Amino acid sequence: MENIVRFPDKNSEEKAALQLPRIIGHRGAAAYAPENTLVGLHTAADMGVKWVEIDVKLSRDGEPVVFHDETLERITGTSGSVAETDWKDLKQLDAGAWFSEGFVDERIPHLEEALSVILDRGLGLNLEIKPCPGREKETAEVALDWLSRIWPEEDAPKPLISSFQAVSLEVSLLMMPEYPRGYLMAADLPETLENWQDRAAYLQAATVHFDRRFFAAEDGVMMSSLAASHYPLLCYTVNDAVEAEAMFDAGIVSVFSDRPDILDDL
Ligand code: G3P
Ligand code: MG
Repeated sequence: MENIVRFPDKNSEEKAALQLPRIIGHRGAAAYAPENTLVGLHTAADMGVKWVEIDVKLSRDGEPVVFHDETLERITGTSGSVAETDWKDLKQLDAGAWFSEGFVDERIPHLEEALSVILDRGLGLNLEIKPCPGREKETAEVALDWLSRIWPEEDAPKPLISSFQAVSLEVSLLMMPEYPRGYLMAADLPETLENWQDRAAYLQAATVHFDRRFFAAEDGVMMSSLAASHYPLLCYTVNDAVEAEAMFDAGIVSVFSDRPDILDDL
């Protein structure tokens, strides 16, 4: 891949403080086990992954659940949405059968269960706050309340809190300022791109996370503005070793990958 932009060296104090690995397991290790499940977290840990990324949103009755989509169809094969389903019903659903027979009966985890596995396995955490529309503030409040009660104050790197939603990051800044924040941007969410430097500065972001398509498409304007920033840069979702190496060569600090074993040196 041709690189049009050379990123500045990110061996900064921020990077050292964050102790970010080169590869972060995306939704666990989503190519090898059903995404955002406990078995996915164990699979990532078994592969030697150092950090995982998971998505959190709220059930109808306000419980934080580890799940990516707004609707249940893709993962559980049932109709309805997470925001309209209580936790007691969500936890009955099969979140593994869609992936393969070997994962039948895997469940949607409560955030508490996922944190327990993550801590037991010594994994670092990027918690992406992924609110259903209209619940941006509440989702961050509930998720951070659980996280701050469970995550140890010492002996584990602080979790990195990210979101595409500025409101959720703002809650994170106000509630748990000591947890670093990752500013997420996406091409289909133009509000994350416009004046992104001002928004990331207001939210006191520690890192900026962007879509691999910006890099692959050689989006000169966006890549130049990222390169000119002082932020450690993280890129999602990179499942190809050649692409990942090109990104590291260009100065990108970490990549999120469904296939964390694309590199020998995680
Ligand atoms: O946090 C990186 C990445 O997970 C963001 O996109 O849709 O996979 O949550 P998505
Ligand atoms: Mg995510």
